[in-house]
Amino acid sequence: MTGWGHYVPDRIVTNDELARYMDTSDDWIQSRSGIRERRFAEEGETTATMSVESGRRALERAGCSPDDVDLLLVASSSPDYITPPVSSQVQAGLGMPQVGAMQLTVGCTGFVYALVTAEQFIRTGGCETILVVGTELISRWLSWEERSTAVLFGDGSGAVVVEAAEEPCGIRGSVLGSDGDGAEHIIMPAGGVAKPTTHERIEAGENTLQMNGREVFKFATQVMGRSLGEALQKTNLTTDDIDLFVPHQANARIIKYAAEAYDLPEEKVVMNVDRYGNTSAASVPLALSEALDEGRAQPGDTLALVAFGAGLTWAAAIVDLAETLPALDAVSAPGASKTAVEL
Ligand code: UT7
Repeated sequence: MTGWGHYVPDRIVTNDELARYMDTSDDWIQSRSGIRERRFAEEGETTATMSVESGRRALERAGCSPDDVDLLLVASSSPDYITPPVSSQVQAGLGMPQVGAMQLTVGCTGFVYALVTAEQFIRTGGCETILVVGTELISRWLSWEERSTAVLFGDGSGAVVVEAAEEPCGIRGSVLGSDGDGAEHIIMPAGGVAKPTTHERIEAGENTLQMNGREVFKFATQVMGRSLGEALQKTNLTTDDIDLFVPHQANARIIKYAAEAYDLPEEKVVMNVDRYGNTSAASVPLALSEALDEGRAQPGDTLALVAFGAGLTWAAAIVDLAETLPALDAVSAPGASKTAVEL
Protein backbone atom coordinates (compact mmCIF):
# COMPACT_ATOMS: atom_id res chain seq x y z
CA MET A 1 0.00 0.00 0.00
CA THR A 2 2.05 2.94 -1.26
CA GLY A 3 -0.38 5.86 -1.23
CA TRP A 4 -3.65 6.94 0.29
CA GLY A 5 -6.05 9.87 0.15
CA HIS A 6 -9.53 10.92 1.11
CA TYR A 7 -12.11 13.51 0.26
CA VAL A 8 -15.17 14.70 2.17
CA PRO A 9 -17.66 17.35 1.07
CA ASP A 10 -17.34 20.77 2.75
CA ARG A 11 -20.91 20.81 4.02
CA ILE A 12 -21.06 19.82 7.71
CA VAL A 13 -24.47 18.69 8.97
CA THR A 14 -24.71 18.66 12.75
CA ASN A 15 -27.13 16.61 14.83
CA ASP A 16 -28.89 19.85 15.78
CA GLU A 17 -29.49 20.60 12.09
CA LEU A 18 -31.07 17.14 11.60
CA ALA A 19 -33.26 17.76 14.64
CA ARG A 20 -34.82 20.63 12.66
CA TYR A 21 -36.18 18.18 10.02
CA MET A 22 -36.84 15.14 12.22
CA ASP A 23 -38.03 14.13 15.64
CA THR A 24 -34.54 13.49 17.05
CA SER A 25 -31.92 15.17 19.22
CA ASP A 26 -28.17 15.63 19.49
CA ASP A 27 -28.30 13.80 22.78
CA TRP A 28 -30.04 10.71 21.33
CA ILE A 29 -27.76 10.50 18.29
CA GLN A 30 -24.54 10.94 20.27
CA SER A 31 -25.47 8.51 23.01
CA ARG A 32 -26.71 5.75 20.62
CA SER A 33 -24.11 6.09 17.87
CA GLY A 34 -21.27 8.43 18.90
CA ILE A 35 -21.98 10.63 15.86
CA ARG A 36 -21.73 14.42 16.30
CA GLU A 37 -21.83 15.48 12.66
CA ARG A 38 -21.50 14.18 9.12
CA ARG A 39 -20.80 15.60 5.63
CA PHE A 40 -23.43 15.86 2.91
CA ALA A 41 -22.44 16.28 -0.74
CA GLU A 42 -23.45 19.54 -2.33
CA GLU A 43 -25.16 20.03 -5.68
CA GLY A 44 -22.82 19.05 -8.50
CA GLU A 45 -20.93 16.55 -6.35
CA THR A 46 -21.45 12.88 -7.17
CA THR A 47 -19.88 9.54 -6.32
CA ALA A 48 -17.73 9.90 -9.45
CA THR A 49 -16.44 13.40 -8.61
CA MET A 50 -15.63 12.46 -5.01
CA SER A 51 -13.85 9.27 -6.17
CA VAL A 52 -11.76 11.22 -8.66
CA GLU A 53 -10.66 13.59 -5.90
CA SER A 54 -9.66 10.91 -3.36
CA GLY A 55 -8.10 8.79 -6.13
CA ARG A 56 -6.02 11.75 -7.35
CA ARG A 57 -4.81 12.41 -3.79
CA ALA A 58 -3.86 8.74 -3.27
CA LEU A 59 -1.92 8.67 -6.55
CA GLU A 60 -0.08 11.87 -5.63
CA ARG A 61 0.89 10.46 -2.24
CA ALA A 62 2.20 7.29 -3.92
CA GLY A 63 4.16 9.35 -6.46
CA CYS A 64 2.21 7.69 -9.29
CA SER A 65 0.47 9.17 -12.30
CA PRO A 66 -2.87 7.88 -13.64
CA ASP A 67 -0.82 6.36 -16.51
CA ASP A 68 0.89 4.00 -14.06
CA VAL A 69 -2.37 2.35 -12.94
CA ASP A 70 -3.22 -0.95 -14.59
CA LEU A 71 -6.50 -1.66 -12.75
CA LEU A 72 -9.11 0.50 -11.05
CA LEU A 73 -11.54 -0.86 -8.44
CA VAL A 74 -14.30 1.36 -7.06
CA ALA A 75 -16.38 0.07 -4.15
CA SER A 76 -19.74 1.82 -3.93
CA SER A 77 -23.39 1.04 -3.27
CA SER A 78 -24.45 4.53 -4.32
CA PRO A 79 -23.06 4.87 -7.85
CA ASP A 80 -24.07 7.80 -10.05
CA TYR A 81 -26.19 5.46 -12.20
CA ILE A 82 -27.32 1.83 -12.08
CA THR A 83 -25.49 1.60 -15.39
CA PRO A 84 -22.80 2.58 -16.46
CA PRO A 85 -20.55 1.43 -13.60
CA VAL A 86 -19.15 4.45 -11.76
CA SER A 87 -15.65 2.97 -12.12
CA SER A 88 -15.58 3.94 -15.81
CA GLN A 89 -16.58 7.51 -14.97
CA VAL A 90 -13.76 7.63 -12.42
CA GLN A 91 -11.32 6.22 -14.95
CA ALA A 92 -12.21 8.96 -17.44
CA GLY A 93 -12.24 11.62 -14.71
CA LEU A 94 -8.72 10.72 -13.61
CA GLY A 95 -7.50 10.65 -17.22
CA MET A 96 -6.38 7.05 -16.85
CA PRO A 97 -5.50 4.87 -19.85
CA GLN A 98 -8.11 2.35 -21.04
CA VAL A 99 -7.24 -0.32 -18.48
CA GLY A 100 -9.69 -2.52 -16.58
CA ALA A 101 -12.08 -0.71 -14.25
CA MET A 102 -14.80 -2.27 -12.15
CA GLN A 103 -17.35 -1.34 -9.52
CA LEU A 104 -17.84 -3.60 -6.50
CA THR A 105 -21.17 -3.28 -4.74
CA VAL A 106 -20.85 -4.99 -1.37
CA GLY A 107 -22.41 -2.40 0.95
CA CYS A 108 -20.21 -1.04 3.72
CA THR A 109 -17.91 -4.06 3.28
CA GLY A 110 -17.09 -3.09 -0.32
CA PHE A 111 -13.71 -1.45 0.21
CA VAL A 112 -12.20 -4.39 2.10
CA TYR A 113 -13.56 -6.77 -0.57
CA ALA A 114 -11.98 -4.54 -3.23
CA LEU A 115 -8.63 -4.45 -1.42
CA VAL A 116 -8.58 -8.25 -1.12
CA THR A 117 -9.47 -8.48 -4.84
CA ALA A 118 -6.62 -6.08 -5.71
CA GLU A 119 -4.21 -8.19 -3.72
CA GLN A 120 -5.09 -11.27 -5.80
CA PHE A 121 -4.22 -9.45 -9.04
CA ILE A 122 -0.90 -8.30 -7.56
CA ARG A 123 -0.05 -11.77 -6.21
CA THR A 124 -0.71 -13.51 -9.53
CA GLY A 125 1.41 -10.94 -11.35
CA GLY A 126 -1.57 -9.82 -13.42
CA CYS A 127 -1.18 -6.20 -12.31
CA GLU A 128 1.55 -3.99 -10.87
CA THR A 129 -0.31 -0.89 -9.72
CA ILE A 130 -3.97 -0.81 -8.67
CA LEU A 131 -6.05 2.10 -7.47
CA VAL A 132 -8.71 1.02 -4.95
CA VAL A 133 -11.41 3.55 -4.10
CA GLY A 134 -14.37 3.42 -1.70
CA THR A 135 -16.99 6.13 -2.12
CA GLU A 136 -20.53 6.68 -0.96
CA LEU A 137 -23.08 9.44 -1.44
CA ILE A 138 -25.92 8.06 0.63
CA SER A 139 -27.45 11.36 1.75
CA ARG A 140 -29.52 11.49 -1.47
CA TRP A 141 -31.04 8.10 -0.62
CA LEU A 142 -32.09 8.85 2.94
CA SER A 143 -35.68 9.35 4.01
CA TRP A 144 -36.27 12.00 6.69
CA GLU A 145 -39.24 9.84 7.75
CA GLU A 146 -36.83 7.07 8.83
CA ARG A 147 -35.11 8.79 11.73
CA SER A 148 -33.25 5.76 13.07
CA THR A 149 -31.49 5.33 9.70
CA ALA A 150 -31.24 8.91 8.44
CA VAL A 151 -29.19 10.18 11.39
CA LEU A 152 -26.43 7.60 10.90
CA PHE A 153 -25.10 8.13 7.38
CA GLY A 154 -22.78 10.62 5.68
CA ASP A 155 -20.96 11.09 2.37
CA GLY A 156 -17.25 10.72 1.59
CA SER A 157 -14.51 8.90 -0.26
CA GLY A 158 -11.18 7.24 0.45
CA ALA A 159 -8.60 5.57 -1.79
CA VAL A 160 -5.36 3.62 -1.67
CA VAL A 161 -2.73 2.73 -4.25
CA VAL A 162 -1.52 -0.89 -4.11
CA GLU A 163 1.75 -1.72 -5.84
CA ALA A 164 3.74 -4.92 -6.40
CA ALA A 165 6.86 -5.05 -4.19
CA GLU A 166 9.87 -7.30 -3.73
CA GLU A 167 9.74 -7.30 0.07
CA PRO A 168 7.11 -9.38 1.88
CA CYS A 169 4.27 -6.99 2.74
CA GLY A 170 0.65 -6.40 1.87
CA ILE A 171 -2.30 -8.57 2.91
CA ARG A 172 -1.02 -11.33 5.16
CA GLY A 173 -4.42 -12.95 5.52
CA SER A 174 -8.07 -12.13 4.96
CA VAL A 175 -11.61 -13.30 5.61
CA LEU A 176 -14.60 -12.61 3.35
CA GLY A 177 -18.13 -13.63 4.30
CA SER A 178 -21.77 -13.26 3.35
CA ASP A 179 -25.15 -14.36 4.69
CA GLY A 180 -27.91 -13.62 2.19
CA ASP A 181 -30.58 -14.69 4.69
CA GLY A 182 -30.15 -11.25 6.26
CA ALA A 183 -30.62 -9.38 2.99
CA GLU A 184 -33.77 -7.53 4.04
CA HIS A 185 -32.08 -5.90 7.05
CA ILE A 186 -30.32 -3.23 4.93
CA ILE A 187 -32.18 -2.63 1.68
CA MET A 188 -33.30 -0.05 -0.82
CA PRO A 189 -36.37 -1.96 -2.05
CA ALA A 190 -37.23 -0.11 -5.27
CA GLY A 191 -35.15 0.91 -8.27
CA GLY A 192 -33.74 -2.51 -9.19
CA VAL A 193 -35.36 -5.10 -11.46
CA ALA A 194 -37.32 -6.76 -8.64
CA LYS A 195 -39.27 -3.56 -7.99
CA PRO A 196 -38.75 -1.06 -10.80
CA THR A 197 -39.37 2.55 -9.83
CA THR A 198 -43.02 3.59 -10.03
CA HIS A 199 -44.89 6.63 -8.69
CA GLU A 200 -46.51 4.40 -6.05
CA ARG A 201 -43.17 3.03 -4.85
CA ILE A 202 -41.67 6.51 -4.63
CA GLU A 203 -44.68 7.68 -2.63
CA ALA A 204 -44.23 4.70 -0.29
CA GLY A 205 -40.56 5.67 0.23
CA GLU A 206 -39.32 2.40 -1.28
CA ASN A 207 -36.59 4.20 -3.21
CA THR A 208 -34.83 5.17 0.04
CA LEU A 209 -32.46 3.24 2.27
CA GLN A 210 -34.16 1.13 4.90
CA MET A 211 -32.42 -0.58 7.78
CA ASN A 212 -33.47 -2.74 10.68
CA GLY A 213 -31.09 -1.08 13.12
CA ARG A 214 -31.57 -3.47 16.02
CA GLU A 215 -30.96 -6.60 13.89
CA VAL A 216 -27.92 -5.03 12.23
CA PHE A 217 -26.59 -3.97 15.63
CA LYS A 218 -26.78 -7.57 16.89
CA PHE A 219 -25.14 -8.89 13.72
CA ALA A 220 -22.44 -6.19 13.82
CA THR A 221 -21.37 -6.76 17.42
CA GLN A 222 -20.94 -10.48 16.72
CA VAL A 223 -19.35 -10.33 13.28
CA MET A 224 -16.81 -7.58 13.95
CA GLY A 225 -15.06 -9.59 16.67
CA ARG A 226 -15.57 -12.93 14.92
CA SER A 227 -14.04 -11.85 11.61
CA LEU A 228 -11.10 -10.14 13.34
CA GLY A 229 -10.55 -13.35 15.35
CA GLU A 230 -10.64 -15.52 12.21
CA ALA A 231 -8.18 -13.25 10.38
CA LEU A 232 -5.80 -13.33 13.36
CA GLN A 233 -6.06 -17.10 13.55
CA LYS A 234 -5.34 -17.46 9.82
CA THR A 235 -2.20 -15.36 10.17
CA ASN A 236 -1.06 -16.87 13.51
CA LEU A 237 -1.13 -13.42 15.08
CA THR A 238 -2.63 -12.07 18.28
CA THR A 239 -3.99 -8.60 18.96
CA ASP A 240 -0.60 -7.70 20.48
CA ASP A 241 0.81 -7.93 16.95
CA ILE A 242 -1.72 -5.41 15.62
CA ASP A 243 -0.41 -1.85 15.57
CA LEU A 244 -3.60 -0.23 14.31
CA PHE A 245 -7.20 -1.47 14.17
CA VAL A 246 -9.22 0.25 11.43
CA PRO A 247 -12.86 -0.83 11.83
CA HIS A 248 -15.90 0.13 9.77
CA GLN A 249 -17.22 3.35 11.30
CA ALA A 250 -20.91 2.49 11.76
CA ASN A 251 -21.39 3.18 15.43
CA ALA A 252 -18.96 4.01 18.27
CA ARG A 253 -20.68 1.43 20.49
CA ILE A 254 -20.01 -1.38 17.98
CA ILE A 255 -16.34 -0.36 17.67
CA LYS A 256 -15.98 -0.13 21.43
CA TYR A 257 -17.51 -3.57 21.88
CA ALA A 258 -14.98 -5.16 19.47
CA ALA A 259 -12.03 -3.22 20.93
CA GLU A 260 -12.91 -4.29 24.47
CA ALA A 261 -13.40 -7.92 23.43
CA TYR A 262 -9.84 -7.93 22.07
CA ASP A 263 -8.27 -5.71 24.75
CA LEU A 264 -7.24 -3.20 22.13
CA PRO A 265 -6.15 0.06 23.77
CA GLU A 266 -7.63 3.34 22.57
CA GLU A 267 -4.44 4.48 20.82
CA LYS A 268 -4.57 1.41 18.55
CA VAL A 269 -8.17 1.98 17.47
CA VAL A 270 -9.09 4.41 14.69
CA MET A 271 -12.40 6.14 15.26
CA ASN A 272 -13.76 9.09 13.26
CA VAL A 273 -17.46 8.16 13.24
CA ASP A 274 -18.08 11.21 15.45
CA ARG A 275 -17.16 13.55 12.55
CA TYR A 276 -18.35 11.65 9.47
CA GLY A 277 -21.06 9.22 10.57
CA ASN A 278 -21.32 5.98 8.63
CA THR A 279 -19.91 6.55 5.14
CA SER A 280 -20.44 2.89 4.15
CA ALA A 281 -17.82 1.72 1.62
CA ALA A 282 -15.85 4.94 2.20
CA SER A 283 -15.60 4.44 5.95
CA VAL A 284 -12.55 2.13 6.18
CA PRO A 285 -10.40 3.97 3.58
CA LEU A 286 -11.39 7.35 5.04
CA ALA A 287 -10.45 6.24 8.56
CA LEU A 288 -7.25 4.61 7.26
CA SER A 289 -6.22 7.64 5.22
CA GLU A 290 -6.76 10.06 8.11
CA ALA A 291 -4.86 7.81 10.52
CA LEU A 292 -1.90 7.49 8.14
CA ASP A 293 -1.90 11.26 7.52
CA GLU A 294 -1.66 11.73 11.27
CA GLY A 295 1.34 9.42 11.60
CA ARG A 296 -0.57 6.80 13.59
CA ALA A 297 1.27 3.99 11.76
CA GLN A 298 4.96 3.48 10.95
CA PRO A 299 6.58 1.66 8.04
CA GLY A 300 6.48 -2.08 8.80
CA ASP A 301 3.39 -1.81 11.01
CA THR A 302 0.59 -4.37 10.90
CA LEU A 303 -2.96 -3.12 10.44
CA ALA A 304 -6.29 -4.92 10.90
CA LEU A 305 -9.12 -3.70 8.68
CA VAL A 306 -12.60 -5.03 9.52
CA ALA A 307 -15.95 -4.18 7.91
CA PHE A 308 -19.55 -5.42 7.77
CA GLY A 309 -22.69 -4.30 6.01
CA ALA A 310 -25.48 -4.94 3.54
CA GLY A 311 -25.86 -8.43 2.18
CA LEU A 312 -25.30 -9.16 4.99
CA THR A 313 -21.55 -9.26 4.44
CA TRP A 314 -18.30 -8.98 6.39
CA ALA A 315 -14.58 -8.86 5.70
CA ALA A 316 -11.30 -8.59 7.59
CA ALA A 317 -7.78 -8.10 6.28
CA ILE A 318 -4.46 -8.12 8.13
CA VAL A 319 -2.16 -5.76 6.23
CA ASP A 320 1.61 -5.35 6.68
CA LEU A 321 2.93 -1.98 5.60
CA ALA A 322 6.25 -2.07 3.73
CA GLU A 323 9.43 -1.42 5.77
CA THR A 324 10.38 1.24 3.26
CA LEU A 325 7.36 3.38 2.66
CA PRO A 326 8.36 6.83 1.40
CA ALA A 327 4.80 8.15 1.65
CA LEU A 328 4.68 7.32 5.36
CA ASP A 329 8.20 8.60 6.04
CA ALA A 330 7.03 11.92 4.62
CA VAL A 331 4.21 12.23 7.15
CA SER A 332 5.08 14.65 9.92
CA ALA A 333 4.60 14.13 13.66
CA PRO A 334 4.76 10.32 13.90
CA GLY A 335 2.49 9.02 16.61
CA ALA A 336 0.42 12.19 16.65
CA SER A 337 -3.25 11.38 16.98
CA LYS A 338 -5.87 13.97 16.36
CA THR A 339 -8.68 11.51 15.88
CA ALA A 340 -8.25 9.21 18.87
CA VAL A 341 -11.61 9.34 20.54
CA GLU A 342 -12.13 8.14 24.05
CA LEU A 343 -13.53 4.62 24.01
O1 UT7 B 1 -23.07 0.05 7.92
C1 UT7 B 1 -24.36 -0.47 8.08
C2 UT7 B 1 -24.46 -1.00 9.40
N1 UT7 B 1 -25.42 -0.33 10.20
C3 UT7 B 1 -25.28 -0.30 11.53
O2 UT7 B 1 -24.27 -0.73 12.06
C4 UT7 B 1 -26.39 0.19 12.37
C5 UT7 B 1 -26.57 -0.72 13.56
N2 UT7 B 1 -27.60 -0.28 14.48
C6 UT7 B 1 -27.40 0.78 15.30
O3 UT7 B 1 -26.38 1.44 15.28
C7 UT7 B 1 -28.47 1.06 16.32
O4 UT7 B 1 -29.41 0.01 16.34
C8 UT7 B 1 -29.23 2.40 16.09
C9 UT7 B 1 -28.27 3.56 16.33
C10 UT7 B 1 -29.78 2.44 14.66
C11 UT7 B 1 -30.38 2.51 17.07
O5 UT7 B 1 -29.92 2.39 18.41
P1 UT7 B 1 -30.70 1.45 19.44
O6 UT7 B 1 -30.07 1.66 20.76
O7 UT7 B 1 -30.68 0.07 18.85
O8 UT7 B 1 -32.14 2.08 19.46
P2 UT7 B 1 -33.52 1.37 19.12
O9 UT7 B 1 -33.62 1.06 17.66
O10 UT7 B 1 -33.69 0.24 20.08
O11 UT7 B 1 -34.54 2.52 19.47
C12 UT7 B 1 -34.69 3.00 20.80
C13 UT7 B 1 -35.73 4.10 20.79
C14 UT7 B 1 -37.02 3.74 20.05
O12 UT7 B 1 -38.08 4.28 20.80
P3 UT7 B 1 -39.02 3.32 21.68
O13 UT7 B 1 -39.57 2.31 20.72
O14 UT7 B 1 -38.08 2.71 22.69
O15 UT7 B 1 -40.01 4.27 22.25
C15 UT7 B 1 -36.88 4.48 18.74
O16 UT7 B 1 -38.12 4.84 18.18
O17 UT7 B 1 -35.20 5.27 20.13
C16 UT7 B 1 -36.14 5.72 19.15
N3 UT7 B 1 -35.39 6.32 18.04
C17 UT7 B 1 -34.99 7.60 18.04
N4 UT7 B 1 -35.18 8.60 18.92
C18 UT7 B 1 -34.63 9.80 18.62
C19 UT7 B 1 -34.95 5.71 16.91
N5 UT7 B 1 -34.28 6.61 16.16
C20 UT7 B 1 -34.29 7.77 16.84
C21 UT7 B 1 -33.75 9.04 16.57
N6 UT7 B 1 -33.94 10.03 17.48
N7 UT7 B 1 -33.02 9.32 15.46
